[in-house]
Amino acid sequence: MDLHQTYPGLDDLKRRAKARLPHFVWEYLDSATGAEATKHRNRTKLDEILFHPSILHGPLEPDLTTRLMGQEWSLPFGVAPVGMSGLIWPEAEILLARNAARANIPYCLSTVACKTPEDVGRHTQGRGWFQLYPPKDPEIRRDMVKRAGDAGFDTLVLTVDLPAPSRRERQTRSGITQPPRLTPRLLAQIAQRPSWAMATAMNGRPRMPTIAKYAPDTPGMSPTEHIGYILRTSPDWDYLRWLRDNWKGNFVVKGVLTPDAAGRLEAEGVDAVWVSNHAGRQLDAALSTIEVLPAIRKATKLPLIFDSGTGGGLDVMRALALGADMVMMGRAWHYALGALGRAGPRHLTEMFERDLIANMGQIGAARLSDLPDCLIRD
Ligand SMILES: Cc1cc2nc3c(=O)[nH]c(=O)nc-3n(C[C@H](O)[C@H](O)[C@H](O)COP(=O)(O)O)c2cc1C
Repeated sequence: MDLHQTYPGLDDLKRRAKARLPHFVWEYLDSATGAEATKHRNRTKLDEILFHPSILHGPLEPDLTTRLMGQEWSLPFGVAPVGMSGLIWPEAEILLARNAARANIPYCLSTVACKTPEDVGRHTQGRGWFQLYPPKDPEIRRDMVKRAGDAGFDTLVLTVDLPAPSRRERQTRSGITQPPRLTPRLLAQIAQRPSWAMATAMNGRPRMPTIAKYAPDTPGMSPTEHIGYILRTSPDWDYLRWLRDNWKGNFVVKGVLTPDAAGRLEAEGVDAVWVSNHAGRQLDAALSTIEVLPAIRKATKLPLIFDSGTGGGLDVMRALALGADMVMMGRAWHYALGALGRAGPRHLTEMFERDLIANMGQIGAARLSDLPDCLIRD
């Protein structure tokens, strides 16, 4: 079957993923916080970024390669960290990391993924990114950072946009509890989705093994349930400095929405700033990332990584035109996995690449660096 014929766009993958995943899994993946105004704003503000169409420019073969933090990547997009990735499709972390290595695009593993840095590191060719939810305990912090380095990850990403837990009402409505419990209601949802249920049963119950190592033995509670609550802290500038001093590779801060913060991070020796509103999952009154991007571009010379709401190659172009150096996606990869299982990551990569080539042709951009000149500016 030609997947491009059957699933030409992200909406096709979303529809199929929704039909194949248990309701609570879909809600975990697709939801945001509150009334989801920030999630929608991410989308509508992207649609407002327009380009001049080009005519009579002759044949054009766009060059999609880009450099970021000393590395050359074949495409200007990659995989953002997603907690419990393996809940959405078994082995998701390995499938995504392998596809990323094959396509030469960045892959970022979450602290709370279903695979450890040790599991995933060998699939990343020494170029993996590890995302850190900041452990409170200094010994755990030291150990986790060391594990990422030993496992071959060369980039550490500190996520800073969870200063407090957010409310995810859609998730709660779907029956997800805190701490997570497999209730009769969730079992009934699973029973309605046989392909997911079979694949998951063959791989075992999804867990968060990276942090399970630090769990004290608490009777009656799974290690992951307990540790999820005691592990994290809300980091401050001292915490950031400690990480900078103790991590020799590239150091990225994820979840930045203001020019002031970007400027200050540059002064602290960070290697790149990741502009993100966590896909609208934290604050339902935040600006969209595409709105804040131009001012952040002005405030710092650091490379900028962008995410939140990206739905195709055209969105990647919009972010690059406004100053991003790399665009990461979270949900899109997981819609692809939910829809197509192991065939999903490659299909999504090709879909975005084709979309980029088609749209760069429309505007006559031969290189990514041409994109800013093609923007319609008011
Ligand atoms: C289901 C889900 C889980 C996520 N888990 C994490 C995480 O563990 N760590 C993190 O830094 N960001 C996490 N994020 C945020 C993503 O890294 C990324 O910022 C966001 O998904 C980008 O927006 P997009 O999904 O519209 O592409 C998560 C996002 C989703 C949708």
